Amino acid sequence: VAALEAAGAEVTLHAADVCDAAAMRGVFDALRARYGAVHGVLHTAGVAGGGLLRTRSRADMEAVLAAKVTGTLVLRELVAATPGVRFLTLFSSRAALNGLLGSADYAAANAFMDAVAIGTPPGAPVTVSVNWPAWHGIGMAGATPDHPAPDGGTHWRTVLAPDDWLVAEHRLQGRALLPGAAYFDLLVRAVRESGGADDLDPVVIEDLMLSEPLFVTEPTDVTVALTESAEGAWH
Ligand SMILES: NC(=O)c1ccc[n+]([C@@H]2O[C@H](COP(=O)([O-])OP(=O)(O)OC[C@H]3O[C@@H](n4cnc5c(N)ncnc54)[C@H](OP(=O)(O)O)[C@@H]3O)[C@@H](O)[C@H]2O)c1
Repeated sequence: VAALEAAGAEVTLHAADVCDAAAMRGVFDALRARYGAVHGVLHTAGVAGGGLLRTRSRADMEAVLAAKVTGTLVLRELVAATPGVRFLTLFSSRAALNGLLGSADYAAANAFMDAVAIGTPPGAPVTVSVNWPAWHGIGMAGATPDHPAPDGGTHWRTVLAPDDWLVAEHRLQGRALLPGAAYFDLLVRAVRESGGADDLDPVVIEDLMLSEPLFVTEPTDVTVALTESAEGAWH
């Protein structure tokens, strides 16, 4: 924004839900009243996916689909109905082309944008959908996942390296990852070494759900967060 202003542009901010057709029309009207015309639109609103479908509620998935499906339809109608608009650029993702593990809803939402661009009717403003790869360090791909420590719990830590036997021979799309069965080993070690069980005690694991793959492309800190319930079970 600072660079645009330094180059002589004027930047104004209007907040609106891209899924709300009336609110977006209000933004267009305000811009046309001030500047005379809207020449182009970049659709950059989006919500990242967050886990395998098995772990997602309908509401989670609708939140991801909304901005890119409903929002794209709202903007498509608006640019078609607004004289002078020359282009609509949709910020899609490479996830639409080759999928994204743990983000099927996000991949589908972006594929919808691509389909809208491909199906632009003759005479409509030029509509392109850009399949961006991840932008390093910024935006939704640069966000650090937040895994807070459980209250009163303990943390067991280890470091996994790409050449550890646990991961070296298990690869997905060329990247080493922790296979599902190895999570059991990690949990048993974490509980034993945190004092939850003696070496010869059996450890019973219930309700294990793997929500996303753990890729190990460089030495990676792994933390198992443990809390002990009143009944002596560890979570
Ligand atoms: N970052 C990447 O590496 C990458 C790669 C490929 C494609 N893309 C695409 O590029 C676009 C921008 O990405 P980003 O990294 O800048 O994302 P971001 O930092 O997560 O920002 C997305 C923005 O969209 C807004 N938003 C979500 N739903 C909305 C709605 N219904 N109406 C209005 N605004 C809404 C969010 O507002 P709130 O904060 O108020 O929720 C947020 O400001 C996204 O469409 C994304 O899918 C990004």
